[in-house]
Amino acid sequence: MQHLVDSDDLSMEQIERIFEDASSFKKRLPPPLLKERLLITLFFENSTRTRSSFEVAAKRLGAEVVHLDPSKSSTKKGETLEDTFSNLCAMGPDGVIIRHSHNDTPSLLADMQLTPVINAGAGNYAHPTQALLDLFTIREFFGTRLEGLRVAIVGDIVNSRVAASDIRLFDRFGIKLSLVAPKPFMPVTDLPRYDTLEEVVDEVDVIMSLRAQLERHKRPIFDNYEEYAKRYCITQDLLGDRSVVVMHPGPVMRNIDISDDILDDPRSLVLEQVSNGVFVRMAVLKLLLLDS
Ligand code: CP
Repeated sequence: MQHLVDSDDLSMEQIERIFEDASSFKKRLPPPLLKERLLITLFFENSTRTRSSFEVAAKRLGAEVVHLDPSKSSTKKGETLEDTFSNLCAMGPDGVIIRHSHNDTPSLLADMQLTPVINAGAGNYAHPTQALLDLFTIREFFGTRLEGLRVAIVGDIVNSRVAASDIRLFDRFGIKLSLVAPKPFMPVTDLPRYDTLEEVVDEVDVIMSLRAQLERHKRPIFDNYEEYAKRYCITQDLLGDRSVVVMHPGPVMRNIDISDDILDDPRSLVLEQVSNGVFVRMAVLKLLLLDS
């Protein structure tokens, strides 16, 4: 039984297979490879992109999807997460897709070995399908030879599961990473660190912007995000005519993370990331439910 807690669970060969399948699905939708398969989605945190993208991906492959809304579930009556999961597994799904605020929830449920567990975002630890779709999008733009490509990750890096997963995955492909953030948003790291975007804008091919994860801040970090934006927002003034591309996992805080005009600029791959998310998640579901 194969799980996806983070991309470290996947061999390089499996990652290549995911990218090949995603590319092929993008050119032409496949037949219903997962007909009569059933997936359950269990999102303990809000989501627009990941939940709907998994659901679209599963349906494009002919699978059925049941969503359990934790706010209306018996966890509210005191049932433990493990019991909720065991009860769902007793209904015979072919996989459970889970998002949770705790870093170790997906691995804890995976260790129960009841059904394949797919991590749709856990705390600030991992968001593997986001990292895969980010890398897929970069490969589409720059080609498959990624060794030495320069990516700056900008924003609330310490609280971002996307940053954590991107860093682990991109490193395996030889991508050179730099981190740009104010002190409270900077993790402990061996990677090159910068305080301002101006220091890196001439040195990078990709800027990956991240939202301030306000829901994970124990107390307000900045009183005024307009002041923060003056240093960390990706704007036309910052980019000029440079050929750097701009990415963001979403949700974007407009004019704080990225300005309106850059979101509409051809250098923004933000909506391409969302489109690619469906094909990458189709490929992940195929790998875990059919090929493994
Ligand atoms: N990228 C991402 O995880 O977005 P959602 O929170 O909307 O799923």
